[in-house]
Amino acid sequence: MSVDNFIPLNRKAMCARDGVLGFDLYHISIEAALFEPVILCQSGTLLDKVQEVLRDFPFDKMYVRKDEIAKYYTYMESSLESVIDDPGVGVEGKSAMIYSCASNVMEDVFRDPRSGANLERSKNITDHIIRFSLSDDRSISSLLSLSSHDYYTFTHCINVAVFAVGLFQFINRGTDADLRDLALGAILHDVGKTRISDAILNKPGRLSDEEFATIKTHSRKGYELMAGKLGDGPLDVILHHHERFDGTGYPEKLQADAISDNAKITTIADVYDALTTIRPYNGARKPFEALVLMKEKMVGHFAKDRFLAFIQFLSGGSA
Ligand SMILES: [Fe+2]
Ligand SMILES: [Fe+2]
Repeated sequence: MSVDNFIPLNRKAMCARDGVLGFDLYHISIEAALFEPVILCQSGTLLDKVQEVLRDFPFDKMYVRKDEIAKYYTYMESSLESVIDDPGVGVEGKSAMIYSCASNVMEDVFRDPRSGANLERSKNITDHIIRFSLSDDRSISSLLSLSSHDYYTFTHCINVAVFAVGLFQFINRGTDADLRDLALGAILHDVGKTRISDAILNKPGRLSDEEFATIKTHSRKGYELMAGKLGDGPLDVILHHHERFDGTGYPEKLQADAISDNAKITTIADVYDALTTIRPYNGARKPFEALVLMKEKMVGHFAKDRFLAFIQFLSGGSA
């Protein structure tokens, strides 16, 4: 079978120890120059046995056949809870597994945002992110270290959710229900972009006024797409994540405390992640540069106390 029929897996993300492997796990040796896939563990192998094999396995990548990739993600998502609770799995392994699942879930959500099953999966993944963030102080920074600096709408959404959860917990105000609303709203904040053409979204040059106006419709389009499917809390975040403290935002030009705490937090996380990521029209900025730009060029956009807390949170300080 050709190597083209295989998908590489992050070895660190294969850390579940409860249950049975539901797909064949392969190794492809480059050194042999044959690119011949060799089975490492067969479907049906006990997962703790798989861990034994991987302990002595010297490579970073393993492979799964393309026709079994759905089984792989099913295994990953169904194992997340036991992995997060497993004290024998390190923070790196847990992060790799959560981030990999979240990327796959968000890719599916953006492909088919009307699917109830995909929305259910996005709720589960945000619950896992919250559960993980509460279980270990290093969880948020570990998850963020996995973020790609290239811009994909769905990884951007994960990063915004992780930053938002981190900032919410750092500020330490609000209920568990608020936190769940925030995480879900943040991970879906740009879902309305699925209703905007890729030609505009990925345009490398400057946008015309008309194109910019089209992009700006994404927060309302996202709200309309999710209305009736999500509660008021996440819907508020989706609709209002581009509102600005000084009233110059959109779509409703809300001002100051007419903007909810969760929307204020998401706005900061959103702008920061966009600035520190390579976009079609811009290179990635360093964290410090991004914060200076937000402070100096975006005066009035953010709730000042939340923005200061965000700086402290990023620098690892205390609230
Ligand atoms: Fe947005
Ligand atoms: Fe965004």
